[in-house]
Amino acid sequence: MQETGKALKPILDYLLEKRGFDFSGYHHPMLGRRITKRLFATSSENFGEYLSYLQENSDELDHLIDVITINVSRFFRDTLTFELIADRILPAMILEKTRLHDNSLRIWSAGCARGEEPYSLAILVQELLRKEEKTGEASRNNEGVFAGNKYEKSPPFSVHIFATDIDGKTLKDAEKAVYPLASVENIKHRLLTKYFTPDGTSFRLLPEIKKLVHFSPYDMLDKKCGVPPESVFGAFDLVLCRNLLIYFNIEYQETIFAKLYHSLSQNGYLILGEAEAPIMTYRHHFSRAFEFSPIYRKR
Ligand SMILES: C[S@@+](CC[C@H](N)C(=O)[O-])C[C@H]1O[C@@H](n2cnc3c(N)ncnc32)[C@H](O)[C@@H]1O
Repeated sequence: MQETGKALKPILDYLLEKRGFDFSGYHHPMLGRRITKRLFATSSENFGEYLSYLQENSDELDHLIDVITINVSRFFRDTLTFELIADRILPAMILEKTRLHDNSLRIWSAGCARGEEPYSLAILVQELLRKEEKTGEASRNNEGVFAGNKYEKSPPFSVHIFATDIDGKTLKDAEKAVYPLASVENIKHRLLTKYFTPDGTSFRLLPEIKKLVHFSPYDMLDKKCGVPPESVFGAFDLVLCRNLLIYFNIEYQETIFAKLYHSLSQNGYLILGEAEAPIMTYRHHFSRAFEFSPIYRKR
């Protein structure tokens, strides 16, 4: 494993120098496999030869970043987690905020790929707020705490969903918001027909959902800025950082966890990927909110 790290170092150093991205904390076997794909694609015999190719062909940098940053995602990835967000977390949050006369909801999708995750959230928020508008009352029973409470006409919610990724190319795709069938397969038919229009063999998201999400480039290892600059300050009620931590070694996971922790408001929710959990040093800073889903609450 160390050997792979050594062989990759000049390539990673070059990426850092040219683009400012530090991929040295990614798991080296995974990096080795990914970069080898580019070796084949460029007919390079070894990592040294590939580095020369990279230095001589500036376009190759984008291909390399593309292959390292795995952008696989889809709408409502992990059904149970999204059901819990829809049925338990968002309604409870809106009730609590209404009670506190706070009409803003701040959400961050960190490592948002082509937008499937933040747009899934935006659809859920839109659905819920429309329902709230119609009924004018708390519609969910959040473990009895706010059950049955009614609120007199409250001001409309201002929803801010920030979505960030290190990969500028995927962010451009996210802004276009046109998806193949494979990305939308998990969406309930009712929501698919309500919020998308067919576009050939693809599905185009409606502007009413698109406008709820603000995309910007942001590196989760950025040391200068603890939260995405576009969000001005963190204080997020809900942060999703899913299927990103798995790619990093423990040292870099620490850096990312510190960022996630500080970006959350008190009692804010952190949602991880199915194979992820808070690292040891942060375990006592979060409580698990649901047994079968990687949803945590800041203590
Ligand atoms: C596998 S996708 C996960 C997408 C989505 N969160 C999900 O769970 O479906 C991982 C994303 O993390 C992004 N990423 C990787 N390293 C990053 C970093 N250092 N900072 C920000 N984003 C990063 C990749 O570009 C990619 O889009």
